[in-house]
Formats: sequence, structure tokens, C-alpha cells
Amino acid sequence: MTERHEAEGLAGIAATSLVVAAARAAEQHRDDRLFEDPFAELFLRAAGAEGTATGADDTATGDEARLLIGEGMRTFLREMGDQPAVRTAYLDEQLLRAAREGCHQVVLLAAGMDTRAFRLHWPEETRVFDVDFAEVLRFKLRVLEQAGATARCDHRPVPADLRRDWPAELRARGFSAREPTAWLAEGILYALPSTAADALLQQITSLSAPGSVFAADHIKGSPALDSAIAAMSADLVDSWQSGPAGALDAWLAGHHWTPRVDSLATVVGRYGRPVPSVFDARRSDTSRGWLVTARRGR
Ligand SMILES: C[S@@+](CC[C@H](N)C(=O)[O-])C[C@H]1O[C@@H](n2cnc3c(N)ncnc32)[C@H](O)[C@@H]1O
Repeated sequence: MTERHEAEGLAGIAATSLVVAAARAAEQHRDDRLFEDPFAELFLRAAGAEGTATGADDTATGDEARLLIGEGMRTFLREMGDQPAVRTAYLDEQLLRAAREGCHQVVLLAAGMDTRAFRLHWPEETRVFDVDFAEVLRFKLRVLEQAGATARCDHRPVPADLRRDWPAELRARGFSAREPTAWLAEGILYALPSTAADALLQQITSLSAPGSVFAADHIKGSPALDSAIAAMSADLVDSWQSGPAGALDAWLAGHHWTPRVDSLATVVGRYGRPVPSVFDARRSDTSRGWLVTARRGR
């Protein structure tokens, strides 16, 4: 099967992985980029201008990465501004720090087109597990293989549905709950109802030895966000759920983690980027966003 055909299998929520890739591809074209992701653009090229299920009606004009992004996706990304780039840079730092401090296992939940296994300089002996739907991982790995990309760690793809018994799939690929783990939930918490977010964190916690780290981003929905998503696809608006109930710090503390929560507005400032339109507190209809890192005591 060609990548184009595989990408056509990326419907609904799976196709959102290509939207994040589009944001990272755009960042890669900036002189002042916050990270390197030379692979993001390859996914867009492989998917083709019309190959996504995001409702993008690409006009195939423009240059470089923009050429591959449809008008709806462009509108969404404009509204999201620097959120995807800043969260990527922030989470890169948190994961590398955790790995250097002894988490030799890194689990990227709902990994999508995350290429951290290929682009970050991991300490020796780091195992990076990518968990996502089989078709998402198949598409990603095919593109990376054809680009001659080499993993900078012991990379272990884990095809699994997070609503099923994904811990069994993880263990089957060599994960050990006795060793500390750095977990990442990026671009996924807000796609979960609060009960599913609780269940996911419970599973993560039960697999987390002392010294483990949990990192995530979260966004509270809003009319401004809904209309940005609707510009891509009306169907995707419904995939936006509440995520964890209540405040993130209380949620994590309630599951025996010690959290540090930063507001997106603070973090974008730290990276020298403006507050994105969807998170602009001067508007009454906007979202709030956070980045979080939490630890399990030794
Ligand atoms: C917005 S993308 C984020 C991808 C990646 N974390 C990133 O930030 O680049 C959401 C990802 O969640 C994955 N996903 C959604 N529901 C899932 C489920 N039930 N099981 C596994 N993966 C899921 C999708 O396939 C998609 O790759």
C-alpha cells in the first residue's frame, strides 16, 4: 500500500496527527525555530494535499509546507498560533530531563506524527515506545523508513487503542513497570471524557515506578476554539471533550503525583512568542491552556 493510501485511512481523530505535523513543519521553516523536526513536512507530502480527513480543501498554491495545507487547516493553525510549537519545545525539554534523571523508558501515548524517537538526543539505553492506532504508526514508520531516518534510541512502536488493554501491548514489547518511566500525553487529554481521562491516568499510575514523570498539555474548550476547529471539520468539534474534571493540579495530586502546572500564556512568554488568538484572555470567548509535568516520589 502506498503512503497516500495509508494516509487516507487516517480519519477523524487520527487525522489530527497530520495537523500537528503541519504546525511543526511550519516551525521548521522559521529561522528562530524552537526545535528541529525535519520529518514533519515529509508526512504532509506523503499524505498529499487532499489525503487527510480533516475537511481540508487544499488549493495547492503557495510554497513549501504551506502548499500541502488546506485552507481550513490554515485557519485553525493561525488561530492556534504558537501553541503547538511551544508545547513541543517545552515537552521535549521535560522528557529529555526525565530521561537524563533516570527514566530509561519513555512512553508517548497517542504519539501520532511525534518523531521524538528520531530527532532528540536521548541518553544511551533509552527505550521510546510510540503508542497509537496501527494505521497511524504504519503510515509514520513507512514515511520515516523511506526518508532513511534512524532512531536515536531503542524505538518500539506499540499499535494499540487507548480505550482497550494497551498496557498488555506495551508489556509485550518489553515495557517494565518496575523501572521509572517518562510518560507523555500530548494532544490527547482534551479528546477524552473525564471518566476516560481518569481511567487513563489510573492505568499510567499503576505502571509507574517511583521516579516516574508524567508530562502533558491541556486545553479548556471555548467558542473561539470550536470555531477554529469547525474551520477544519465540523465533525472534529464533537471529538473535543472536557478532559480531566477540575483543576489539573488537583487531578494529578488525587492520583498521587506531585504536579507542576504552567499556564500556556506564561510558557509562550518564556519562549518569546505571543499569546495565540484562541488563548487571548482579552477576549471573553477564548480557551485556557496549560503545560504540566508531574513526578512520582522515590
Ligand atoms: C492531536 S494528535 C496528537 C499526536 C501527538 N501526540 C502530537 O502531539 O504530535 C492525537 C492523536 O491521538 C491518537 N488517538 C486518539 N484516540 C486514540 C486511541 N483511542 N488510541 C490510540 N491513539 C489515539 C490519534 O490517532 C492521533 O494520532
